[in-house]
Amino acid sequence: MTVPSDGERIVYLSGEFLPLANAKISVLDRGFIYGDGVYEVVPVYRRRPFRMAEHLARLSHSLAGIRLADPHPARWTEIIGQLVARQPFDDQSVYLQVTRGVAKRDHAFPADAVPTVFMMSNPLVVPSREQVERGVPVITAQDTRWLHCDLKVTSLVANVLMRQLAMDHGAVETVMFRNGYLTEASASNVMIVRDGRIVAPPKDNLILPGITYDATHELARQIGMPLEMRAISHAETMGADEMWLSSSTKEVLAVTRVDGAPFGNGTPGPLFRRVWEAFQERKHG
Ligand code: PDD
Repeated sequence: MTVPSDGERIVYLSGEFLPLANAKISVLDRGFIYGDGVYEVVPVYRRRPFRMAEHLARLSHSLAGIRLADPHPARWTEIIGQLVARQPFDDQSVYLQVTRGVAKRDHAFPADAVPTVFMMSNPLVVPSREQVERGVPVITAQDTRWLHCDLKVTSLVANVLMRQLAMDHGAVETVMFRNGYLTEASASNVMIVRDGRIVAPPKDNLILPGITYDATHELARQIGMPLEMRAISHAETMGADEMWLSSSTKEVLAVTRVDGAPFGNGTPGPLFRRVWEAFQERKHG
């Protein structure tokens, strides 16, 4: 099979499957004008979406959080299935976004706009073997985002700036603290290990309730690792034995450098290795 160019790849836009190069929206789309929309990223292993029900439940939560009615209740699984089937690669990362649609520019909700639904699927690029074996560097910063970080909204400029800050420092992520407590990273959740226990920030309004965070915790419980969800101070974070990132595209990944200095003993820790192995088994199961 000849591999389609990026522009030839099939995407979904408001009821139609078409090549990416032909998918066009109005400049008045509120997603463009205000970032007035929500999104999801669903990893797909060997053409099977991983934890689809959980991603769709979070999508409903995000839609409700911005007071936007679900434009496709009960049809997401089918449309995502069709999109996945139309790609020439097996491991995918499905991106889907719903905006409040096209309307004359006015902050208040339009009376009759039709939501725009866009979906595309890219090859899933998980961390390299080297990143898994050696861990990755992060930097830290104050969390300057709004107070509804539990909603997966497309208004991501704060996260974009945080991720770029990491890039500027040769790091993969920026790990954030709000009022002296760990929240999450620019596009991943963060958890630590202290004295043989996994400790993760609680799923409140200050972090995205990560689907990989939940999957990691489930695996940890099955392996018999003690787990706590509670506020984690900056000092406790920086003095931890291990730090992990989790996301749909990073899976679970060890942090081995923070702000330019080795973290923990500078290599991925023993609990990380066990959870990573379990994750690799589970993601295809
Ligand atoms: N990001 N926190 C933030 C701010 C995120 O953007 C993400 C995911 C996560 C992890 O959530 P999950 O495990 O459900 O992927 C946590 C996606 C991958 C993105 O924006 O590309």
